Amino acid sequence: MLVTAGPTREHVDPVRYLTNESSGKMGFAIAAAAARAGHAVTLIAGPVTLATPRGVRRIDVVSARELLAVCQREFRRCDALVMAAAVADWRPVKKLAAKWRAKDSGAERTTLLLARNPDVLATLTRGRRSASKTVIAFALETGAGVARAKKKLAKKGADWIVLNDPSALGGERTSVTLLGANGEHIELRDRTKSAVARSLVELLGSV
Ligand code: CTP
Repeated sequence: MLVTAGPTREHVDPVRYLTNESSGKMGFAIAAAAARAGHAVTLIAGPVTLATPRGVRRIDVVSARELLAVCQREFRRCDALVMAAAVADWRPVKKLAAKWRAKDSGAERTTLLLARNPDVLATLTRGRRSASKTVIAFALETGAGVARAKKKLAKKGADWIVLNDPSALGGERTSVTLLGANGEHIELRDRTKSAVARSLVELLGSV
């Protein structure tokens, strides 16, 4: 089983970057639950401060493009992918080799030109032979979630999508809605991330 977790970091210069609020806790809980259930698990982690779950093979990445490169190598060998990583959609067009010195220009305003990052999940599923692997995507939505998540489920070629909201960020508990490609709709309310992780691993075991 391949699990991705945590944010990506998109550097502006050697000491500054764009990122997001993902803690990685949900993805790490899934990797831990899968390993406890006897699966061989590879966890691809963005920059987080979490300990590697027992029995899990971990690969650390920083940027979305690194995540894509490692996923492309590892996806071929897996039976299931759980894409919990919060991939940054944008990166600075240029990473400066030395520190960006604000005072040198004397400017009070500036702009940062951004380039679109690859959609890791959509890139992986594009080449997927149908039904040979099970893919679970995540969607973090701020309102009108179900309709948007259903669209993402189809667009990203996933079998399931786990819908959650920003209240889950950083915490130990979460409420999620699991939406399946065959119309399934399962609500898991106010559970620990470990409990949600166990449910997802059971779901993968049952397909
Ligand atoms: N994802 C990805 N590559 C990206 C962005 C997202 O692989 N560049 C994956 C995430 O890991 C997640 C799913 O796609 O499993 C949905 O991510 P989300 O950020 O909610 O969707 P986006 O497609 O980025 O849409 P938006 O930010 O516009 O809501």
